Amino acid sequence: MNKADILIIGSGPAGHIAAEVAGDSGLSVYLFEKDKLGGVCLNYGCIPTKTLLNSAKIIRQFQDSDKYGIDVEGYIQLNHEEVIKRKDKVVRRMTLGLEATLRDKATIIKGEAKILPKEDEEFVVEANGEKYYGKYLFIATGSDSIIPPIEGLKEAVEKGFAITSKEALELEEVPENLVIVGAGVIGLELADYYSAAGSKVTVIEKLDKVLPSLEEEVASILRKSLEKKGIKIHLASTVTKIGEKEVHFIKREEDRTVEADKVLVAVGRKGATKGFGLENLSIEMNGSFIKTDEYLRTSENGVFAIGDVNGKSLLAHAAQRQAISAVKNLTEDADKVSSNSVPSVVYTTPAVASVGYTLEQALEADIDAKEVKLSLLYSGRYVAENIELTGICKIVYDRTNRCLIGAHIVGSYSSEIIAILASFIDLKTDVKDIEKIVFPHPTVGEVIHDAVATIAQKIAKHEKILASATSNGDGQES
Ligand code: NAI
Repeated sequence: MNKADILIIGSGPAGHIAAEVAGDSGLSVYLFEKDKLGGVCLNYGCIPTKTLLNSAKIIRQFQDSDKYGIDVEGYIQLNHEEVIKRKDKVVRRMTLGLEATLRDKATIIKGEAKILPKEDEEFVVEANGEKYYGKYLFIATGSDSIIPPIEGLKEAVEKGFAITSKEALELEEVPENLVIVGAGVIGLELADYYSAAGSKVTVIEKLDKVLPSLEEEVASILRKSLEKKGIKIHLASTVTKIGEKEVHFIKREEDRTVEADKVLVAVGRKGATKGFGLENLSIEMNGSFIKTDEYLRTSENGVFAIGDVNGKSLLAHAAQRQAISAVKNLTEDADKVSSNSVPSVVYTTPAVASVGYTLEQALEADIDAKEVKLSLLYSGRYVAENIELTGICKIVYDRTNRCLIGAHIVGSYSSEIIAILASFIDLKTDVKDIEKIVFPHPTVGEVIHDAVATIAQKIAKHEKILASATSNGDGQES
């Protein structure tokens, strides 16, 4: 009989990390995967996109080479076919690494898993005609692209004229005219790549800003930078119809049409909860996602939902953290994931990285919040390495508790330095302690130190005013 402690459905960042951690803790695991090991992130998401965007960044540096004092002779162009080949190589290498990591920790079952009704208090999953039994069940099936109800879109998807991010990472040819619906993370990252690859890119966004979940000024700096590269962005625009070779939309009450060779739909993702027997359990839903509590438990005892499928945060690193937490919740003390210190990154050039509250959100939450904004021009390395000098770093802090609660950066290295800000936020480190840390010079990260020094001064001044107001019996700050 095929029996294990945990049955895990889905091998993306949530599923494979859960398998690894459970295996390390001495638990037996069956890990089911119907497609490729590593899930969307490794095969059709994070890693392929980053490979493509790296080529985009390199060709843009070549195009600007004279400004860096380098003469390049001849015609420079991005070879999309070779970029895709390299992307496949990168993915293969990562998949092999993952297979090796899991070798002694879990039994991988390559096949479509289907949940059957419980038998004798055990969970039952069927795959490739065999039954597997487990004490616990982890659902880590991820998410799927949303296809909104726009006239002609369903037919356009069937014909391959409209595509999702998955197909956009596999296109054999660079479309002459690429129309992207949605100026979210996927829309803008792929706009950046295809524009560098030679497409005429048009992005249509229904809201009046790009990256609506991000800090407004930071998102707007990125928008201007993408527009400078020739990407046309229509905000506050409603797509009304996908035609044979064009997209129709309304902007400022005016009907407009834009020519398209491909249409990329990037308007968000929904939980992948259909077609694998979820109805055989008693699982409560939250829209298209599986409802979980703060310990990742679903409404059915013994079933956990981790990663995109629970809709808490559609980010691979959040999924990994949830996987660790869920396994710990089986074996040790309860482990909660702190959602306010999960950073997010948009890997465009310039990159945008953010974590925690924006000033607006913090004030809405009744926090005694203030913000310090510094230009990345404070960093010698940033100035030395960049032509476009628009980068900024905004840090939101809690004046009462003397700690950082949010950070929003646009500019080079932001994707790497955001981790240190996430740590300070998570650990609620006192700004006076951060001030004592020595940052390497010259680095872009030094800006964090400069910003925190300013914050420490402002807090000290504020505390002095409060103290003197208390001793004078008046509460006014000058
Ligand atoms: P998203 O939620 O980031 O953006 C969707 C955008 O489409 C929004 O700006 C929304 O206002 C717009 N929109 C919605 N309906 C529309 C319509 N009918 N017409 C025009 N615009 C419309 O979703 P996206 O970009 O599809 O990404 C999905 C998820 O994947 C996100 O939650 C994201 O965090 C995650 N992801 C993360 C990445 C990263 O960390 N670098 C990379 C790619 C995806």
